[in-house]
This record gives sequence, structure tokens and C-alpha cells, in this order.
Amino acid sequence: MPTALTLSGSIRKGSYNRMLQGHMDRKLAEAGVSVTSIDLADFTMPIFNEDLEADSTPKAARQLAELWRSHDIVFIATPEYNGGVPPLVVNTITWLSRQKPSPFRHAVFGMGGISSGKYGTIWSLSHLRDSLSKLGALVVPTLLGIGPADEAIDAAGNFVEPAIIRKVDQMVHELTHFSRG
Ligand SMILES: Cc1cc2nc3c(=O)[nH]c(=O)nc-3n(C[C@H](O)[C@H](O)[C@H](O)COP(=O)(O)O)c2cc1C
Repeated sequence: MPTALTLSGSIRKGSYNRMLQGHMDRKLAEAGVSVTSIDLADFTMPIFNEDLEADSTPKAARQLAELWRSHDIVFIATPEYNGGVPPLVVNTITWLSRQKPSPFRHAVFGMGGISSGKYGTIWSLSHLRDSLSKLGALVVPTLLGIGPADEAIDAAGNFVEPAIIRKVDQMVHELTHFSRG
């Protein structure tokens, strides 16, 4: 059975991206994937600074790197801040980029994001894909950008727009069919 690790780049209460993560958890499970859904609040790391590396790489960085190495799929739900990737995601990827062996060269990566704005995190996703690709990650082509959030989700937290439902299905298909071989 394929395995997936999912996470959200927002850890705030009521986060839309946490909802997207939960939605992907359910869709991946329906597709026969064993899902490990984590909360980055459980992997606290200081703001990266090379001085910290020498004697105090955070335990959370080592644990998270091992989780990324040991799953077939990694799905990241990320907000967009100021047209870019939010600091929690950047800091997490920065610490992971310093772990050996690389946590980016095993899994197939997918990313999505939901924002209050109508452009639906496209800049954030574009920057994140660029960064992950430069680290050697295989990122599936679909970018699951969703927005504005208040029109995309109903009161029960379900995605209602047919175009988004199709895109979620496409993401699940790509994540379960792409492979690094
Ligand atoms: C510092 C900051 C910058 C933001 N910049 C953007 C932005 O560039 N584009 C956008 O669509 N939304 C932006 N937003 C609004 C977010 O889309 C919104 O807060 C969203 O709910 C964040 O995701 P979350 O619900 O998962 O926390 C910004 C929010 C914050 C706090």
C-alpha cells in the first residue's frame, strides 16, 4: 500500500489550509493510500541560522526529514503570504535541506493552497515548486490553487466548486501514479 505524509503550512486554529490537508487525507485514503497526517506545531524549529547547525540541529528537523524520506508521497498545503511562501514553510524546508541523506529525493511531492484572495496561492505554489525542484524533488504538474476560500468551501468544510473537485481528483491521480522509479 502506498504511503503519504501530509502537512499544512498554517498551524493557526481554523486554518483553511488545515482543511485542505484534511480533505486530501480523506481523498488519498479513498484512493487506497495509507496517510500520515502531521501538524507542524508538533515539529517546532527555531528560525534557521547556520550557527545553530554545528551543535544543535533541532530533533524535530531530524524526525521530519526521516518522515519525508520514509513516505512515497508528500502533500504540502500552504498559504500565500505577500505573494510568496509563508515563513513556517520556508523555515521547515530550509532545515530539511540541511539533513542527510536528502529528504527530497524519495517521495513524489504535491502541493496545494487556499487563500482568502481570488488568485488562490498561485504565487506561493509557484515559488514553492521552484524551490523544491531545485532541491531535487519530483513535483507533480497540478498545482491545487484554491480561492477565494469563502466561496470554495461550504459550511461543512467541503469543497463545492466542480473545477476544484476535478483538480483534487487530478492531484490524487498524479500523486498515486507518478513514481521516481
Ligand atoms: C502576512 C499575511 C500575508 C498575506 N498575503 C496574502 C497574499 O499574498 N495572497 C493571498 O491570497 N492571501 C494573503 N493573505 C491572506 C491569506 O490568504 C489568509 O490569511 C488565509 O486564511 C491564510 O491561510 P490559513 O487560513 O490556512 O491560515 C495573507 C495573510 C497574512 C497573515
